[in-house]
This record gives sequence, C-alpha cells and structure tokens, in this order.
Amino acid sequence: MGSRTWVALNSNRVVKEIISKNCVSTGDRPDFPVAGSLVSNNKRTVLRKTIDWKEGRKLMHHLLSGTALKNYSGIQEAESTTLLHNYLHQPDQWHRHNYSYSYSIAHRIVLGERTRQTQKQLDDIRRITVEFIRSINSSIFDFFPSLGIFQPFRSFWSCMGADHYKVFRAWWDPVMQDMADGIAPTSFTRDVILQSKGKYATNHDEAMYLATSIVAAGSDNVRMAHNVFMMAAVCNPEVMAKARTEIDSVCGRDANRLPDLADMESLPYISAILKECLRWRPVVPLIPQHHSTKEIHFDGYVFPAGTDFVINSLAVCGEVDDPADFKPERWESREMNITDGLWQFGGGRRVCVGYKIAHQELFLAFAKSIYCFDFIPVRSALPSTQQNWLAD
Ligand code: HEM
Repeated sequence: MGSRTWVALNSNRVVKEIISKNCVSTGDRPDFPVAGSLVSNNKRTVLRKTIDWKEGRKLMHHLLSGTALKNYSGIQEAESTTLLHNYLHQPDQWHRHNYSYSYSIAHRIVLGERTRQTQKQLDDIRRITVEFIRSINSSIFDFFPSLGIFQPFRSFWSCMGADHYKVFRAWWDPVMQDMADGIAPTSFTRDVILQSKGKYATNHDEAMYLATSIVAAGSDNVRMAHNVFMMAAVCNPEVMAKARTEIDSVCGRDANRLPDLADMESLPYISAILKECLRWRPVVPLIPQHHSTKEIHFDGYVFPAGTDFVINSLAVCGEVDDPADFKPERWESREMNITDGLWQFGGGRRVCVGYKIAHQELFLAFAKSIYCFDFIPVRSALPSTQQNWLAD
C-alpha cells in the first residue's frame, strides 16, 4: 500500500503464527502521520510506537488483573440493572441505553464517579471517537509518509486534533479540580495513573490522553457489540429461547433472581453468544497494523523488518462452516475466554487491555436482558422497503 508493505492476515492460523507467536517482533505500530500525530497529538495509546507506549501499557495492565475485575464487578452489576430499567421504560431508545451502559461503566472505572457530563458533552465524546477511528489509514499521507502532510490537508487534520483536545479538556479539568481539592473518589485515574512514577504522574496531557483513550475504547466497541447482539436476538428467536432455558435452570423459571457474574461458569451459552456476535458481525473489521521490527520467516516467505501486518477480521471470522449463520454452538467446545479462537480484541503484546472487562459487562447485559425481555421486531419501526421481511 503506497510506500508501505502491508500483509493482510486472512486466517486464524496465520494470525496465531504472526501476531501471537512472533509477538516480540510484531508488537510495534507504524507511524500514523494523520490519526496518530495530527489528530491525537501522538498520545492516544492505541497507535503509539512501542517506545512511547510501554509505560502506559504497564499501567493499563491493571485493568486485566483479577483484583481490578472484582472491584469493577459491582459497577457492572449496578449499571446492568439500570440498563434493564431503561429498556423497560423507553424500549425504542435501546441503542441510546446501550451506549450509556458501556460509557457509564468505562467512566466509573476510570474516574470513580457517575458521569456528570451534559448530553452535548457525551455526544461530543462519541463524535470524536468516531472521527478518530475514521481517520486511521484514511489519508494518502498514511501510505506515503515521506510526503509529509501538505497544506491545506494539514490544517484540516490539525484542527480536528485541536478540537479533540478541547473536548478532552472539558472532560478532564473538573476531574483535576477534584483531585486538587482532595475530593476525587477512588478510580483508575486517581489510584493508578496519577500514582505512577513516570511521565503520567507529572504530565497531565499524557494522563488525560491515557484516561480518555480507555473510556473511548471501552465504551465504543462495547456499544457496537451490544448493538450486534440486539440484531442477533431479533433475528434468532430460537437461540434466545435456548439461552433463556439455560438461565432458567440457574436462576429459576419465576424470576427468582437476576443472573450475575457468579453465574458466568454455569451459563456458557451466554459467552458463546457473545463470541458469536463478534464473529458474525466483527465490530473491528481491520485491526490497526502491527509493525514488525525484525525480519520474519514464515511458510517459506521472508517478511522484512518494517512490514505492517493487518488482521483482516472479515476473512478470519468467516473461516467457519456456514459463516452467515448465527450459531453460538460453534463455540461450545472451546474455552469460554473470549480471546480463544477470536481475534476481535487483537493479539500479541497489543491485545486489548479491556477484553476481560468487556466479557463481564456484555455477559451481564446479555444474560439479564434475555432473562427479562423478549426481542421481537416491530414492523412499523422498519423502513418501508424492509417491512415485507417480517411475517404477518
Ligand atoms: C467488544 C469490546 C471490545 C473490542 C472488540 C475491543 C477491541 C480492541 C482492539 C482490536 C484493540 C487493538 C488490539 C491490537 O492492535 O492488536 C484494542 C485496544 C484497546 N482496547 Fe479494546 N476492545 C473492546 C473493549 C474494550 C474495553 C471494555 C476497554 C476498557 C475498559 C478497552 C480498552 C482498550 C485500550 C485502552 C486499547 C489500547 C491498548 C494499548 O494501547 O495497548 N477495550 N481493543
């Protein structure tokens, strides 16, 4: 692609070999002159080169620890019950509830408090997340970095970066004020980022980009996976019926109690539904390039250092029997761990730091809503061109 060597990884086997087994050599990122430099001030963790990324990654490892997951489970249990309340009272706004569910959880984990943003601020955060994602590999300068960024293109992207910075500051400044006043609640920002020894404790822009990156990544991908679940639920009533039977056998047929995280082991079909949602409609179609720092020999090919490897999720997720069918059963013989056999969370050293949090929160949302609600398509809510799709 342009002056760069891209290699698309199209099967589970090659992803495992190149991204997992060769993770030491394929764990870097290339330069992203637009999305990384201009739009993100070189500070959004997901696109940083290893040398600038390592320190933040060490802090983020906390999110994968058993203690952290236990601490966050209370937040997730409470927010998933609020989600049910919201579905019940405003069912037609389900997509908004899905976003506010994932956003609230990420916000509470990172800042320790319920969100106090106005609707406009929340919309801004969502907008800039989408703009950032769209800016990745969207410009010719990403493929010919030696061209530099010429005017007037430069000013378009740098204005976007300045706007994102402004949105983040409006979100961040009140938090810092609470820290200064000694009234900030316990949180990942207060207790991990600002307590660290290096640049994150002293450089508040660094701390802000790390915290906001976690909130943005944590809310947007989860929201999309949750929306896919709604589509799968409406289109596959027999799958939902089977899942309901499984939950009934654990929680009782008369709504004796809601499912909770302690039931995860006893409800493997719910985790299978989650994995199938991510396989069926991958929410990250192309995983951002993993850049190699060493020559790699594989299957008779030699990939020079500097090659960019892209996980092509659409091909990899389609590598099953009847790929268009939604069949959670295909995951039943595999580990429940949501990264087992599924590359939607990336892999190697760059693997998503939030995959265990995502598993817990999507498990709760799916299990509770399957237990409490029926998912039925509403003819009048469909565009007229699609209304025939529903039987009378
Ligand atoms: C369905 C949900 C999710 C999906 C599909 C997803 C997917 C991904 C992917 C593909 C990457 C890049 C991996 C790579 O390059 O190999 C990533 C990185 C990341 N994810 Fe997730 N993610 C999800 C949920 C979450 C959650 C809940 C959080 C936080 C609470 C989170 C935080 C992050 C962060 C901070 C990074 C950057 C990590 C780094 O720079 O080292 N993600 N995610």
